[in-house]
Amino acid sequence: MRRLNTLFVGQVVHDLPTVASTNEYALTLLSKSNPAEGTAISTGNQTAGRGQIGSQWESEPGKNITLSVIFYPDFLLVKNQFQLNQAVAMAVCDFVKKYLPVSKVSIKWPNDIYVGARKIAGILLQNSLINNQIRSTVAGIGINVNQTVFATNPPNPTSLCLETGENFDLEELRSSLFERLEARFLQLKSGKILPLQQDYLGNLYRFQAPAKFQRSDGEIFEGTITGIDESGRLKMAVQGRETIFDLKEIRFH
Ligand code: BTN
Repeated sequence: MRRLNTLFVGQVVHDLPTVASTNEYALTLLSKSNPAEGTAISTGNQTAGRGQIGSQWESEPGKNITLSVIFYPDFLLVKNQFQLNQAVAMAVCDFVKKYLPVSKVSIKWPNDIYVGARKIAGILLQNSLINNQIRSTVAGIGINVNQTVFATNPPNPTSLCLETGENFDLEELRSSLFERLEARFLQLKSGKILPLQQDYLGNLYRFQAPAKFQRSDGEIFEGTITGIDESGRLKMAVQGRETIFDLKEIRFH
């Protein structure tokens, strides 16, 4: 087995044969104890995986990475919490790029990882706040690895195996993911925000490319993503005017 080259991420792993949701498990652990920073909850069989905005996360038993990592980003103000999103998204993007052609991998705002126009990984961050600081974060990550048939996971799922025709060693991949997560978390912690933000924008799906989007009322419009504001909202040029969208206000068409 490959050595794990980290200081803290993945040094403690709760390896569960089956669990409803690794995020739920991590949140319960946090409510009952003080797990060390970097503690991971990992399972081969997640039976009620949670996705963003109340959706579900499909994962065939034994085929994929489904895990959560506990962080204590108490150095981060609540108003800057999107930076944590950027760090975790960049870590998963770095990870996927190790195995696939770099040019095909991107981050679909806010934190889906795409290969071409297909989703390979999803991230669910759950923060607990004290006053205006972040006390703890559960970073839940689902990466499609060896699964080749998908029933429900929208939209347009893909996996490392579908992209390459190869089967991957999940243990080895997990160690490599822990290393990417630690590197990006430490980049954030050491205040190197600018390179992190530049990397995020440099990898953003449809950045600076005119494309079709859909408003929450169903209207389809053409716009160009121009950036992200301090709170992590999407900045777009729509008919020559800068417009800002929240997560629930816009869909990629
Ligand atoms: C999304 O794209 O909707 C986010 C999906 C996040 C899925 C992961 S799998 C491990 C962790 N535990 C959960 O219940 N969800 C996250």
